[in-house]
Amino acid sequence: MSQETLSNLLHENRRFEPPADLAANANVKADAYDEAERDYVAFWEKAAERLTWETKWDRALDWDDPPFAKWYVGGTLNAAYNCVDRHVENGNGDRVAYHWIGEPEGDSRDITYAELKDIVCQAANALTDLGVKKGDRVAIYMPMIPETVVAMLACARLGAPHTVVFGGFSSTALRDRVQDCDARIVITADGGYRRGAPAALKPAVDEALESCPDVRNVLVVRRTGQDLGEGGWTDVRDVWWHDAVDGASKDHTPEAFDSEHPLYVMYTSGTTGKPKGILHTTAGYLVGCAWTHWAVFDLKDDDVFWTAADIGWVTGHSYIVYGPLANGTTSVMYEGTPDTPHKGRWWEIIQDYKITLLYCAPTVIRTFMKWGADIPQKFDLSTLRIIGSVGEPINPEAYIWYRETIGGGRTPVVDTWWQTETGMHMISPLPGVTAGKPGSAMKALPGVSAVVVDDEGNAVKPGSGGYLVITEPWPAMLRTIWGDDERYRETYWSRFEGMYFAGDGAKLDEDGDIWLLGRVDDVMNVSGHRLSTTEIESALVSHPSVAEAAVVGANDADTGQAVNAFVILRESALTDGEPEEGIVDELRNHVSKEIGPIAKPKAILVVAELPKTRSGKIMRRLLRDIAEKREVGDVTTLADSTVMDKIKEGIAAGSDED
Ligand code: WT7
Repeated sequence: MSQETLSNLLHENRRFEPPADLAANANVKADAYDEAERDYVAFWEKAAERLTWETKWDRALDWDDPPFAKWYVGGTLNAAYNCVDRHVENGNGDRVAYHWIGEPEGDSRDITYAELKDIVCQAANALTDLGVKKGDRVAIYMPMIPETVVAMLACARLGAPHTVVFGGFSSTALRDRVQDCDARIVITADGGYRRGAPAALKPAVDEALESCPDVRNVLVVRRTGQDLGEGGWTDVRDVWWHDAVDGASKDHTPEAFDSEHPLYVMYTSGTTGKPKGILHTTAGYLVGCAWTHWAVFDLKDDDVFWTAADIGWVTGHSYIVYGPLANGTTSVMYEGTPDTPHKGRWWEIIQDYKITLLYCAPTVIRTFMKWGADIPQKFDLSTLRIIGSVGEPINPEAYIWYRETIGGGRTPVVDTWWQTETGMHMISPLPGVTAGKPGSAMKALPGVSAVVVDDEGNAVKPGSGGYLVITEPWPAMLRTIWGDDERYRETYWSRFEGMYFAGDGAKLDEDGDIWLLGRVDDVMNVSGHRLSTTEIESALVSHPSVAEAAVVGANDADTGQAVNAFVILRESALTDGEPEEGIVDELRNHVSKEIGPIAKPKAILVVAELPKTRSGKIMRRLLRDIAEKREVGDVTTLADSTVMDKIKEGIAAGSDED
């Protein structure tokens, strides 16, 4: 597409109506909105029929003690049975559950539902032999390999809540999560492939477990065959996956658990230092993922679905594992990065596997735009029907590029707004029913009550902005923060009486459609990953050279936001008032070590002072102005109004920026 056409498209107020063929055969029809509006509980009862229940619920929703919801009260079911066994029993055992594609070319594996059932049963038996029982927590720290899904399902089958820790997180982050949920077993691998080379995982586990004496066993998948090195194996504690699982029995009877039995804990960054363990329970979560996956992607029997995300994030949990499997879908799962071994890898995968539904994040779309349209244009992408976006607001330019260049101008784009906490899609067009507009997530799905409110909690009128809240409970909602009910109440339900506060700003356009505007709290969104400013500040301050630190998320053309840090060094780290050589690099690496490479600040500026109000609160807004290279805003509330000038002089001197 020429630059001219692109800007024409952008300048018109674009609106894409659902294509006629999609509209005619849509899974969900327009009347679903009205139906759900009349009685959202009845709507979710109907959606729950997608699952196979051991015992049917006797009360769909218990909201007697808000904000603590119970869905499908009295019902019992097994999540793994719903994801795997029942498809085999229904005669679909030969259907491929995953086309798994390793990063090294040619390294691939197809796994049918029947095979998946066998391995999940074997893993469940192996975990039972290691003493895992209902209610025990299991940490999973893995690359993107089939065993990761198997491990999750084996835990679900046993009623042992899993906590998957993203393989890109550091040993410190792993340690904190293992400790917080008191996991007794860790499942990991020797390593995985990343950017053309094996990347080790096991050493980080060993390091983390030095401070986790209660972990009994580490189950290790051999993926890369790397040498574990001296001290890299702890006899008795460490067990090879192939020794424990491969020989185990393929028979395992799933036990039905209560609807509200904990399914998993997923840690996510909040506004305070310590990550929050978001608790999801069995039935409501599974209903929410299964229904939204079916509705938002207008799922058909012969679809091949690809969520290009890591299983270590909620997107992977809901739309690589639980939603697609509950629906008996064929998915693609890819281990590596988009540019290995070449920049057309994704498009080659779509062409080879005839993918029909693609789901990814705006940040990667912007990267592809930068690499150029000629790369995807070399491949046949005509099988794509619907393409989705998740993780951050998608800018109209990226939306249109995605729709035109990847979707050939045919495919609706579903911009899906949701969170780790919501468990499932909340705001998104339905591709056969709702129009799409570049940059807007459009409207709440049927059964979801999303409202934009002002400071007082009153709904705003079309054409105005405010805060996004959810006013009614939904099945996949988080139930609490692991071990901290008070923090749950405080974080999500105290800002506006009786409403779930998402932490996002939003506006309604004149048609009443919703546009997400990003976080209104101290949470950053870098490449669709959520990071807390406070958490990174704590990491910086934990370095012996740092006296004080302030972190802001500044707009960034590639990653949406980028981490920008301002630090005051301790006297001991200064020579004649100047920072020691290499300190900025050292601090960036320190953050990477403490949290993970994704948290590494893009820029660190050493400053003598930070802008603070008279009550001592750092005015991050002003630092954001600096980081985004703007005129600095109103400084009248600063305790010392000259601070910003000093910071600017420091930058002009030019020596401090990384
Ligand atoms: C935050 C949640 C949802 C899975 C991945 C991120 C932002 C997410 C969108 C979207 C605008 C979005 C919000 C939200 N976000 N999707 N389609 N449009 N913003 O999950 O780490 O829990 O982050 O991501 O700010 O609050 P998460």
